Amino acid sequence: MIQVEGVSKLFPVYDKPSHRLLQMLSPARAKHRWFREFRALHDVSLDICRGETLGIVGRNGSGKSTLLQIICGTLQPSFGSVRVQGRVAALLELGAGFNPEFTGRENVYLYGTVLGLTRNEVEQRFEEIAAFADIGDFMDQPVKNYSSGMYVRLAFAVAVNVTPDILVVDEALSVGDEAFQRKCFARIDRIRDEGATVLFVSHSAGIVTQLCDRAVLLDHGELLVTGTPKFVVSRYHKLLYAPPERVESLRKTIAQEGERSEETHENVLVGDDPNLLPSDRDDEQLVQASRRPTSDAGDEDSHGWLDEGLEPKSTVRYDTRGALIGVPHLETPGGRRVNVLRAGDDYVYVYRVKFTESMERVRFGMLIKTITGLDLGGGASSLPAHSLSHVQAGQEVDVRFQFRCMLDTGVYFLNAGVLARLGEGETYVDRLIDAAMFRVMPQPERLGTGIVDFSVRSQVHIVDSKEVGA
Ligand SMILES: Nc1ncnc2c1ncn2[C@@H]1O[C@H](COP(=O)(O)OP(=O)(O)OP(=O)(O)O)[C@@H](O)[C@H]1O
Ligand SMILES: [Mg+2]
Repeated sequence: MIQVEGVSKLFPVYDKPSHRLLQMLSPARAKHRWFREFRALHDVSLDICRGETLGIVGRNGSGKSTLLQIICGTLQPSFGSVRVQGRVAALLELGAGFNPEFTGRENVYLYGTVLGLTRNEVEQRFEEIAAFADIGDFMDQPVKNYSSGMYVRLAFAVAVNVTPDILVVDEALSVGDEAFQRKCFARIDRIRDEGATVLFVSHSAGIVTQLCDRAVLLDHGELLVTGTPKFVVSRYHKLLYAPPERVESLRKTIAQEGERSEETHENVLVGDDPNLLPSDRDDEQLVQASRRPTSDAGDEDSHGWLDEGLEPKSTVRYDTRGALIGVPHLETPGGRRVNVLRAGDDYVYVYRVKFTESMERVRFGMLIKTITGLDLGGGASSLPAHSLSHVQAGQEVDVRFQFRCMLDTGVYFLNAGVLARLGEGETYVDRLIDAAMFRVMPQPERLGTGIVDFSVRSQVHIVDSKEVGA
């Protein structure tokens, strides 16, 4: 659907505004140039298939918006080529698209026709667009009076109602409120179901992992790695939090990792695909095994058991600064190590932190995530005000979080993190992503639906005839 081949983009950068004018006035063949060239994209190649949802992540200034603009045709590449098949509806960064002097209504017509609809077609869809945008009387106000949220609502309403073949969304949704975001995601889902290709720039790991089939990481204009969203986002975060002197070597490692995983598919897939998880025991067997009374486990046996093969393959450690998280694992309240859990029971997430440097105001955190990387919830060991006031170099700290496993059958991942006060603010001094994983056993009599069990209780009775008339 979209073929990007060896695309580079150079922008002229002028040190002084007057240089721009001088450049414009100099003859085309003049030797002296009044600008430097800044390379926003460097030799980017990427194929995007029909129906695919691709996430683009990268730090500020890494070239994401430039790439999207080139794909949408609002920017020309300096080198390389782009081929796009189909109608592209784009929600680029604010400022693109609308004429500020026109009213919302006028802009809907303008933008709709830019996206390839006839006036009649826009008219037919106008009510739906207005309903989606839900900005009331502002529809007849000039767009320059809009808040940025209203602007995005209207732009999004048009973009999703022109039935695009390709929908390009650059960060835009983060401007809307949650209710509107939810509506947009639902609509994006529908557009995907209809077979459209979606390109999505976001800084939100959750959004990228939940929404996208695949992700790419841009850094300094280079495409460092492509892979599953979970894999790419973890590398992006690693890069984001790396100390400056490590960044260069880290970039190389990530690029190599990407190449290797492309050959074997291992890095990318294991840990993301439930079918490839180390344990391929039949679910029914799991239930049996967990119920089987064994002499040494006694009463506790029903709390679950340990599957040696159930170890995360996707663990990533962020650069540590004087603290090291070790042996993250789960136990029953009685201290027995487990990783196959029974829903509704209590468990303890345990890890041990070795401090190689003395630190102030230390506290600890944990997070449980789904296999696609959706954050489900977690907790901190204390509020900042009640953190451990001092930890000495050489000391070890045992950290325990008790929680109730209110989850659906499936595999989950655990993060672990240590926070301390360094200088002014609180920062992570060690963090493990996918430190541990566990499986929740099937629950044959479960009535709940969805990932989290809210202990829903119901009451149902047939209404008797007197009540029916009332
Ligand atoms: N018209 C331009 N002239 C000069 N430099 C530009 C121009 N447009 C973008 N750049 C530069 O190109 C680089 C990439 O910009 P781009 O907007 O693509 O980054 P981004 O990844 O979208 O960043 P963000 O996360 O902040 O949106 C930046 O360093 C930016 O300053
Ligand atoms: Mg951008």
